[in-house]
Amino acid sequence: MITKEQLDLERLPRHVAIIMDGNGRWARKKGNPRIFGHRKGVATVREITEAAAELKLEYLTLYAFSTENWNRPRTEVDALMSLLVATINKETKRLMDNNVKLKIIGDVNALPGPVAQNLHASIEKTKNNTGLTLVLALSYSSRWEILNAVKHISEDVHQGKIDSEGITTEIFETYLNTSGIPDPELLIRTSGEYRISNYLLWQIAYTELFFTSTLWPDFRKENFYEALADYQKRERRFGKISEQVAKNTNVNS
Ligand code: IPE
Ligand code: IPE
Ligand code: MG
Repeated sequence: MITKEQLDLERLPRHVAIIMDGNGRWARKKGNPRIFGHRKGVATVREITEAAAELKLEYLTLYAFSTENWNRPRTEVDALMSLLVATINKETKRLMDNNVKLKIIGDVNALPGPVAQNLHASIEKTKNNTGLTLVLALSYSSRWEILNAVKHISEDVHQGKIDSEGITTEIFETYLNTSGIPDPELLIRTSGEYRISNYLLWQIAYTELFFTSTLWPDFRKENFYEALADYQKRERRFGKISEQVAKNTNVNS
């Protein structure tokens, strides 16, 4: 079991992204309906957000609902949306207490009115907080995000605002939902699935990946520390060779 004290606080990632998976299976294993798992999953969100804030990470991006998740049974989608409204209402105070700023990425227009309204209220309320930025990916998919960026860029080219030759990596990134947010250094996926499921495809080009069989409702702070400790053992080479990457330097740079 890894404790917080075992982490090198000088070499933490600025940004961790998580695919929170396994809520349904957690509930079914206990003979309960899937929504039980989603409810328990909210408690994990709270715990991991607090752990990230405590460690002074800058960004935590959580995959809460994908574009493809709209294709789940209507009852589950409705239950998830209600849970979202209840959670935002209840948790905004805690976000304030922890100095956490809320952001969302994804197709906000696809969300039911009450969900969007509550989210906007919470974003507004927490906007001057200076600690962790909690980014919720809601009705999000990477291909949707990239296509959206391409559409906006082509409009701007068409209107003469930018020149197609001038579309650099940096310019392109300003059209993504994650504009202004550094790429995650670490991506965690729970529940033993080894896939990306349309998450942050552009942003994870050089991200370190950590997979664990632990189901999201069972994922504790210690599991989070374990992923961070694992990350700290890695050598990030960015295409170079080991000798070019100076030893004992900051893994973030
Ligand atoms: C992740 O848990 C939460 C959402 C996708 C909303 P799942 O609901 O995917 O749980 P499993 O993968 O079916 O166990
Ligand atoms: C990915 O989980 C989306 C979220 C965690 C919100 P899924 O459970 O939807 O992914 P797949 O379908 O197993 O790839
Ligand atoms: Mg799943």
